[in-house]
Formats: sequence, C-alpha cells, structure tokens
Amino acid sequence: MIAAMSDPARSAAFAHLAALAARPEARRIGARLAADPDRAHRLTFALDDLSLDLSRTALDETVLAGLFALAAAADLDGFRARLFAGAAVNVTEHRAAMHMALRSPADTGLRAALAAGGSEDASAIAGAERDRMRAFVAAVHEGRLRGATGERFTHVVNIGMGGSDLGPRVATEALTLGRSDAKLEARFLANIDGHAFAAAIAGLDPARTLFLIASKTFTTQETMENAAGARDWIAQALGEPAVGAHFVALSTNLKAVAAFGIPPAQVFGFRDWVGGRYSLWSPVGLVIALAAGWDKFQALLDGAWAMDCHFRDAPLAANLPVLLALAGVWHRNALGCTTHCVLAYDERLRRLPAHLQQVDMESNGKSVALDGSPAVAATAPVIFGEPGTSAQHSFMQLVHQGPAVIPVDFILAAQPDHDRVEAHRGLAANALAQAAALAFGRDEATVRAEMAAAGKSAAEIDLVAPARVCPGDRPSAFLMFHRLDAFSLGRLIALYEHKVAVQGCLWGIDSFDQWGVELGKQLAGGIQPALTPGSDHKAPDAATGASIARFQALRGER
Ligand code: F6P
Repeated sequence: MIAAMSDPARSAAFAHLAALAARPEARRIGARLAADPDRAHRLTFALDDLSLDLSRTALDETVLAGLFALAAAADLDGFRARLFAGAAVNVTEHRAAMHMALRSPADTGLRAALAAGGSEDASAIAGAERDRMRAFVAAVHEGRLRGATGERFTHVVNIGMGGSDLGPRVATEALTLGRSDAKLEARFLANIDGHAFAAAIAGLDPARTLFLIASKTFTTQETMENAAGARDWIAQALGEPAVGAHFVALSTNLKAVAAFGIPPAQVFGFRDWVGGRYSLWSPVGLVIALAAGWDKFQALLDGAWAMDCHFRDAPLAANLPVLLALAGVWHRNALGCTTHCVLAYDERLRRLPAHLQQVDMESNGKSVALDGSPAVAATAPVIFGEPGTSAQHSFMQLVHQGPAVIPVDFILAAQPDHDRVEAHRGLAANALAQAAALAFGRDEATVRAEMAAAGKSAAEIDLVAPARVCPGDRPSAFLMFHRLDAFSLGRLIALYEHKVAVQGCLWGIDSFDQWGVELGKQLAGGIQPALTPGSDHKAPDAATGASIARFQALRGER
C-alpha cells in the first residue's frame, strides 16, 4: 500500500499510520458509536452552519494524532502559507495556484508569482475583470446588449471542456434547476460529438442565442471544433457579420481569441495562476452569472472566499478542508480504500461528483513526488457518485455489501427551496439511514431473529440469512448545512478544492499540473488525419492501424 519512501519524516508518519491501521479496533465504527454517545459531538467540526461529522469513521484521538504528525512531517502549515503567498506551488509549470484571488475582494492584496520573476496583485487583477463581467451581465439582462438582429438574448450556450465546463455547469444547475427566476436558459456543450452539438442547439433561435467560448488555452480540440460549428450555425442563420455579436470568449490566450474574431469588449481574461479545474470563479463562470444573476455569482464567490479564509486561518485541528483531507488519507493510505463515493442528497448537485472527479483525480492522480521520485504513498482514489436517493437504488448495494470498503461523503441541506416538507424529510431520512446502515450494518444473529419473527422457516433462514448480513464498519463523512444557495455552494466547492490541495501536500505531489492528459491529446492529433480515407498518414502502431481499418470499413470508406 505504501510505496518507495524518499522523505524519511513523511515516510515514518505513513508507516506509523499503517501500524495504527493494524490494531484490531482500527476499522471498528459501529461498536465505537454504540459505546460512546458523545462521539458525534467530539468528531463534528463546523464553520458557521456547515458541519462535518466524522463520527462514522474509525478516527479516534490516536489516529488523529498520527494524521497531524503526518501533516507536520509534510509541512502542511508551510504549504498553506506558500499557497496563499502566491508561490509557484505548481512546480512543473512554474505557476502559482491563486484561484483564491478570484473570490477575494479586489483590495485583499493576494499576489501571484510570475514565471518570469516577480509577482502581480492577483486580487486587483481579478477584481478589475469582475467589474467588466458585471457590466456585461447587466447589459445583457437589461437588454442593452442584444443579438445582431436586435433581439434580446434568451439562451446562453457555454462551450468548454473539463474545468471550462464542469464547474460552471454544476454551479449553474445548482442555482437554477427547478427555479422560475433564471435570467437566461443555459446549455452546455463539451464533447466533440455531433450528437452533443445537436442537443445543445436543438430548438434554439440563433437570433436570441449567445455563445460563450470558455477555454483557458483556447487550443482545446473539442472546444475549438464546437466553437467553429457554433460560428457556422450563427453565420448561416444571420450572416457572417452577425458572428461578433453572438460570441464571448473567456480565456488566458487573448491572441487566439482575437484570431477567432471576437470583439475585445466581449473577451474576458484571466491568468495562468488559475488552473482549469479552479476556473469557475474566473470569467469562465460567466454563464453562471448570466443564468442565475450577478448577485448569485458574487455570493458564490463570497462563499468560496469564506472557506478560503477559514482554510488559511483556522488551526489544523478545527480546519474543515484539513480534517476532510486527513480522513481521506486515513482511508486511502492506512486502510487501503481505492475508491471514494460522493452522495449529495440534492438533485441540484447532480453534477457535483463529475466536477469533483476532475478536481480530485486530475489534481492528485499522480505517482511521482515533487522531486521526481516515486510518491511516498498511494494517491487519489477513484471518485464517483450520484444524487441520493437515486444512488441507493443502483450502486449502493455494492457499497453496503461488496468486497471493498468505499468511504462515502454525504451532503445534505437542512432547508430545501420547495415546500414539499415530507419529501425533504424523506430525503434526509434516507441520507441518515444510509450512513447508519454503513456504520452499524446488520449482523447474522439480528437477521435470523428478524426472519424468525416474520415467521420464516428454519430452512429459509439458513438459506437467506447470510445474504442479508450487512457487515457495517463502513466509513462515511456527513456534511450538513442550512440551505443550498450560492454562498453555501461556493463554500462547499472550495472546501473540496482545499481538501484536494491538502492531500496533495501530504502525498508530496504537484496537485496543480495534469501531464497525464497530454499524451492522449497528442496522439489524437496524429490519428485524426489517418482516419481520412486515402490519407498517407501512418497509424502510430499496428493495433491502432487495425482499428482505423475497421472504422473505415464500417463506414464504407475502404
Ligand atoms: O485536458 C485537461 C484540461 O487541460 C483540463 O485541465 C482543462 O480544464 C480542460 O482540459 C480544458 O482546457 P481549456 O480550458 O484550456 O480548454
């Protein structure tokens, strides 16, 4: 479970955690909860109305001490200070990770190191662009800015991939789903798939549609292909001169944006110190503001900033991102859990697991340490999830009784934004029931007694009882807050961002690069020309060549 050790202090801390995991009580959860009614109180941590209940894990004072020793060995305090000082914590790309500046007030003075040397006032730069965005959003909403034919915009299509899609998508959905007060109807187009393109524009009136091309690099193949398709669609319907009025660009690559023909007033920029998966707070979040309204976008930023300040200032032992991260490291490294489940009991958060997959797995799915040596420990688990309760009727069977222990994060707002009180109590009851079922399980004696009480025969009990046993001692964290609104959503997403950064620090890896995705991009660039019939481009290998031949044969192209 724990690989080569290049850092003696950190390695010793991981080894100590492994020793703690070997204790007989290391995996016991149900018995601890039953024996210690105060446990929920002691192991629940809070920031205002947001609570993180870790009582349904096997964490105890001894394990927490071991985890804090790891934090000390990894110099988590120093990492936090360097992160907020805008140091180049993204070492392989020589960049700061200063997404916090995007949500800080403009006069906060957060600075970001520049690759060329020196630093810049990231808060001020972000604030100035935010002012431009606010003015643009107001002009669209008030009908001062209209399409080429003078129609008001009613629909906005965000074209972007990865962080230029998932973050804005989860936030827009969370703030508009089922509400009648959305300012514009938002759609999202990410995949390089004509079916996705067709779905994104289905039923739309070009004269009333605004496209946002969201791409940090403005080179992403999928986004460029879809942007070209959208451009053609507008040009065919409204004429080439109409294009400028219907497109906005959100990017760091202002040269490429200019080449696309988007007028400078409709270009919103950000800097390299914003990673793609942290860009929803930047101009990439424009779709959120256009759909949900500026005030909600600002509240989203405010919520994230509240979490930033908590993460920066709170002692480690009361720090929500740190505690969530430590619990994750205990499960991943000491107990060997390879998978992690996120269950938001809120339909509005149905895309949250997808966003967290990128935030977590693109950040920490690494195997080398900052110095290029093998990482000292196993890193990011596989993240998956669906909204509760729907998940209960699909994969939760495996989480309850499957061979692997899969820690779960439950997420629940106490107060919904609808008036179906019993439905919400039902939703909450199910979340709590799942957490209890995972923790306590149901032993065979209880199952047998229940079946006997229900009048089952001894033969039937012998046959069925073992299959009905739930082992219990399956860990979960429970996040609860008052209401899902823009502020609490921003706080929640920032909580996970910082959790991931803390884990990256503990594992000694670069959480802010993503070199693993580059190889496939590079290969696709070479394979696409080889797919054209008659092309003399060679496939990179025989297996790909055979697949290309099959693809072309099925299409009748050879
Ligand atoms: O391929 C991965 C990635 O680089 C992500 O990190 C990023 O969010 C996504 O692609 C989209 O990149 P861009 O915003 O530059 O189009």
